[in-house]
Amino acid sequence: MKDLVMSSRGSSHVREKTGINFSIVKLLVLRDKEDNIDVEFGTDENNIATAPPRRPPYGGGSNRGEPRGNGPAKNGAPPKPLPIETPTISLNELNRITDNFGTKSFVGESSYGRVFYGKLSAGEEAAVKKLDTSSSPELDNDFTGQRQAGLKISCCTLCLWVLFGTTSGQLSANFYARTCPNFRSIITRAVNSAVSSEARMGASLLRLHFHDCFGCDASVLLDDTANFTGEKTAGPNSNSLRGFNVIDTIKTQLESQCPGVVSCADILSAAARDSVVALRGPSWNLVFGRRDSTTASLSAANSNLPSPTSSLSGLISSFSNQGFTTNEMVALSGAHTIGQARCTVFRNRLYNENNINSSFATSLRTNCPSSGGDNNLSPFDASPTSFDNRYYNDLISQRGLLHSDQELFNGGSTDAQVRTYSSNAATFSTDFANAMVKMANLNPLTGSSGQVRTNCRRTN
Ligand code: HEM
Repeated sequence: MKDLVMSSRGSSHVREKTGINFSIVKLLVLRDKEDNIDVEFGTDENNIATAPPRRPPYGGGSNRGEPRGNGPAKNGAPPKPLPIETPTISLNELNRITDNFGTKSFVGESSYGRVFYGKLSAGEEAAVKKLDTSSSPELDNDFTGQRQAGLKISCCTLCLWVLFGTTSGQLSANFYARTCPNFRSIITRAVNSAVSSEARMGASLLRLHFHDCFGCDASVLLDDTANFTGEKTAGPNSNSLRGFNVIDTIKTQLESQCPGVVSCADILSAAARDSVVALRGPSWNLVFGRRDSTTASLSAANSNLPSPTSSLSGLISSFSNQGFTTNEMVALSGAHTIGQARCTVFRNRLYNENNINSSFATSLRTNCPSSGGDNNLSPFDASPTSFDNRYYNDLISQRGLLHSDQELFNGGSTDAQVRTYSSNAATFSTDFANAMVKMANLNPLTGSSGQVRTNCRRTN
């Protein structure tokens, strides 16, 4: 095949219907440049993807030159999804041609997943790539490279890639593509504006997401009512969590654009990522489709969230209870590179601990007396509005603010990792971003569970 161009389309609705662990299914077609035919997914949710009407038996080019895509309808009505094109590639066919993604049709491993080869019932050769990570622009190139590198597929004209969700197959990057296409920019704009008014808000929004996760269902946002007790009064949250107003503002804007569509849990997840980016930290790929809880658990919030007085083994087990490795716990703790803490949570460290730099302790005592001043704030590290690796350097010089912070560098098993992060900001950024993806996908409510709250503070 000479002179190739590529096109790809994503679709999340197929995932819902098929019930398998897809988050996205993409169709990637390599075709001749002069072949001006676009490729679209159809509306029939029983099908994985539609193939282009390339040539008999694949359509014979009858659609050539016709307007395509989901452009605005001429009469000003909302864009209408395209009718499904024939033929379609069903889930059964996908499984059949790849022998259920079995060894017989396996042709090669690549950086993002495994490639399988098969022949469609109509005889066309196809390469199917089963991806294990979330969507990334490099994937197109990667796949093209694989194909062109001379896998067994010598004359393949149809290449599919099947993207599997990272930890929760129910979530997908394109979840709101049709229902609220601008939701990302609405959230990003609101977060940027909040962080530029007060840099600490970025830290507060990140923490809000953390305290929601270990569940990721927006339960943390529910207000108490006469007959309902939420999580806001839990020990780690009370008089401490911030950012609820920012979430309210975002929700109000989203409700006016796309009523009842974007969940509060997804807003929290996106706002946390945007906050880190706004404070010059790393970015990561997000998937959406979480739904909001209709209930909350004060006792779970009290028992699951780690305490600032935790020992290293306490921190390890608290994160391990949620499926995190010790390495991930150390990376996630790097969130304390931004934000501030109240005197009440670190006072004991200033007055009763030995593994603290003495001039650091002296300077903090001014603002955090042995009694009183409970709510006086001190920054977690020397650059609290910049998402960097300074936190780990501070731990090495015994300038950890919380007892739990210093536990990560106190002669124990995590010292080496703290040293690595202190000297390698890029490694920290990558590990933090990966751990955040994992955290954001912990036990979400999906499908028909829970609801999409119209007001994040109360159930519908
Ligand atoms: C490792 C166990 C952790 C403990 C014991 C812990 C504890 C705390 C405490 C006590 C505060 C100060 C609260 C206050 O003074 O009101 C705090 C603040 C904060 N925590 Fe953690 N945390 C931990 C892990 C995390 C993780 C995993 C994240 C996010 C991924 C995170 C993000 C933050 C942020 C950004 C702040 C500052 C918030 C602000 O300035 O508003 N923490 N944490």
